[in-house]
Amino acid sequence: MSTANVTVIDHPLVQHKLTLMRQKDAPTALFRELLREISLLLLYEVARDLPTVMKEIETPLEKMQSPVLGGKKLCLISILRAGDGLLQGMLDLIPSARVGHVGLYRDPETLEAIEYYFKVPHSLGERLCIVVDPMLATAHSSIAAVERVKAAGARRLKFVCLLAAPEGIEAFNAAHPDVPMYTAAIDRELNDHGYILPGLGDAGDRIFGTK
Ligand code: PRP
Ligand code: URA
Repeated sequence: MSTANVTVIDHPLVQHKLTLMRQKDAPTALFRELLREISLLLLYEVARDLPTVMKEIETPLEKMQSPVLGGKKLCLISILRAGDGLLQGMLDLIPSARVGHVGLYRDPETLEAIEYYFKVPHSLGERLCIVVDPMLATAHSSIAAVERVKAAGARRLKFVCLLAAPEGIEAFNAAHPDVPMYTAAIDRELNDHGYILPGLGDAGDRIFGTK
């Protein structure tokens, strides 16, 4: 597996929080809060190359030129429903971001991604689009989501997840070599049901307490 297109965000704070999340007894509220906290740390890294422009401001002492975010407002695109677990923290960090949603679920038998919702902002081609989903397993969901977002006009994309399987990284890279990936960890493998090992279980169920 080539990891050339993948940035693993192995900051100790991210790794510590991820370990707490993986534990099967972590309560729903804690799991959700840890994911929110990690989302801030992931976005900090993902946003490292955002363009800035100089703006004239006045401090209490004098005028100065100071950097602010430049360009068209970026777009965060959440793959429903687990993507929403990453979305809120990221919006706290970049409140002016536009938001899109791609509703997908994995068919439990075929593991194919089935779309049930799609809504994105206008002018995607002029925005950096950051697609978020905690889990990259087979990559069927993320590949389909990125295809849809590209078809809607996006040209500059990044994909951010919490956990990735080697199989998913390979498949995503083959389908979208132009889209850099960011993850907090690359786990060992998928099991026969397409779950990441050692993983953290079903992200959506753990975020929303549906199991
Ligand atoms: C989970 C997860 C990803 C997908 C990853 O969603 O949030 O979207 O599985 O698996 P893949 O890489 O094999 O496609 P799920 O289908 O369980 O839906 P949910 O977010 O609504 O729980
Ligand atoms: N989706 C999840 O939520 N967890 C996995 O391990 C794989 C897909």
